Amino acid sequence: MHAARLHNPILPSLMNYSSLARPAIALIAVAAIAACTKTTSTTTTSPSPSGASASSAPAGSSAAARPANRLPAGVTMAMVAEGDSLFHARTCKNCHGPDAAGAKNGPPLTGPSFLHGGTYEDFVRIVTNGMPVDSIKDKSHTIAMRGRGGNPPLTDDQVRSVAAYVYSLSHK
Ligand code: HEC
Repeated sequence: MHAARLHNPILPSLMNYSSLARPAIALIAVAAIAACTKTTSTTTTSPSPSGASASSAPAGSSAAARPANRLPAGVTMAMVAEGDSLFHARTCKNCHGPDAAGAKNGPPLTGPSFLHGGTYEDFVRIVTNGMPVDSIKDKSHTIAMRGRGGNPPLTDDQVRSVAAYVYSLSHK
């Protein structure tokens, strides 16, 4: 008697579960198929970089406040913010100054004029290759700038981000 009473409330609920479970699984399957169909029809939508820029921008950075429409094609605000972090985390600031305004071993990077060209692609090339002593134009600077920021070397993406940050300094 006791055993039967204990089982009674469980059995109907098991039956409810199994009778509801099948339609529920069918609904999930339909939803999944619908989702796949939707995905294939919207693959041309380009991903938005806006989410990444906020999380990778260091505190006090003004990069996120700059208008994106002044950046070269293919450069995003997220890249500028990442480049800002890399510039200050790596050796760049030691030679070019913490605000890139120039220091004993490196020229200003704030423009408006540049010694080795001032386009975004120039910055990418210079950061990639570095600046050997023979190529230094202002002979008050005597220490070579190493390619890819020295060791560990910056990846291609990191080089493009640092170049984006440098570009943003003279294109506010
Ligand atoms: C050892 C010092 C040193 C370090 C570290 C250094 N640079 Fe340089 N950088 C120089 C010198 C020297 C020049 C060439 C200046 C000249 O020709 O008179 C230069 C040139 C440049 C230029 C071209 C400037 C122009 O007027 O055309 C850019 C851009 C640049 N550096 C960015 C960077 C970035 C970004 C980093 C970090 C990844 C970095 N530098 C690290 C010393 C340094």
